Amino acid sequence: MSESSVLLYFDDELTLAQALGHEANLPLACIERHVFPDGEIKLRLPVPLPCKVVLLRSLHQPNTKLVEVLLAARTARELGAQHLTLVTPYLAYMRQDIAFQPGEAVSQKIVGRFLAELFDAVITVDPHLHRISTLREAIPCPQALTLTAAPLLADFVHSQCQDALLIGPDEESEQWISAAARQHGFDHGVCRKTRHGDKHVEVELPDVPVHGRHVVLLDDIASSGHTLAQATRLLLQAGAKTVDVAITHALFSGDAVQVVHNAGVRHIWSTDTVAHESSCVSIAPLLARALSELGPAD
Ligand code: R5P
Repeated sequence: MSESSVLLYFDDELTLAQALGHEANLPLACIERHVFPDGEIKLRLPVPLPCKVVLLRSLHQPNTKLVEVLLAARTARELGAQHLTLVTPYLAYMRQDIAFQPGEAVSQKIVGRFLAELFDAVITVDPHLHRISTLREAIPCPQALTLTAAPLLADFVHSQCQDALLIGPDEESEQWISAAARQHGFDHGVCRKTRHGDKHVEVELPDVPVHGRHVVLLDDIASSGHTLAQATRLLLQAGAKTVDVAITHALFSGDAVQVVHNAGVRHIWSTDTVAHESSCVSIAPLLARALSELGPAD
């Protein structure tokens, strides 16, 4: 990439920014951030800015970060950025995609339009899109690219265990399970899940023999960890030899890691869309390829 571009990042994402800058051949510049005692944020962008700006911001713990993204994008435009790309490896607020009860905010549409007004292009990994088929339906900006980490996770799982049985903990994981299974010919199956509350899920195992198998639960997100924990308990009761988990977005809120290990999970493997102790698969090359392939806007 030429000197007419820069990758802006926040200091808490330095590691991923360095990897992406290296892979995409983009110079890096840090956005300085000050948080006032009342929680307000002041940002300072590097000046001068080139005409093409890429902003890296993963949106776990999203409420503050959406304000950061707003301040950074508007300031970058003020400073002359003509083409603004958001690389958001984890894109929040995609799960509430319909009003399940009258009066509920449809966050996916609201946050999607908010980002579309700020950016010319948005790139993300495994967003939680289940009732729509393209990211652009949620984020109607000129270019909205969805990448998947499932093949990378599949490669990693294969490097650890060639005869793993891949299990998706709910119907929505089917897309990632099939992509990963295709890659290495893993046996696979998908559970059915009923959610009764943030930390209360019921899981039904698929009709696949698990006795004596090394099972890997593969999913997009671990948040409270209860989905993985419940699936793990059932798999171990059904005679699975080991249960490991491989996930794209390691949100792991509160005591989630403990919840998952207490259920009997052996290893947790994740990508670095969100920096976490379990991160062992880098999505930087995938993001860099997408940046290089961003064609001219429609
Ligand atoms: C939802 O359908 C996702 O694919 C995950 O299964 C879910 O977000 C996990 O949430 P938690 O870890 O809180 O059970």
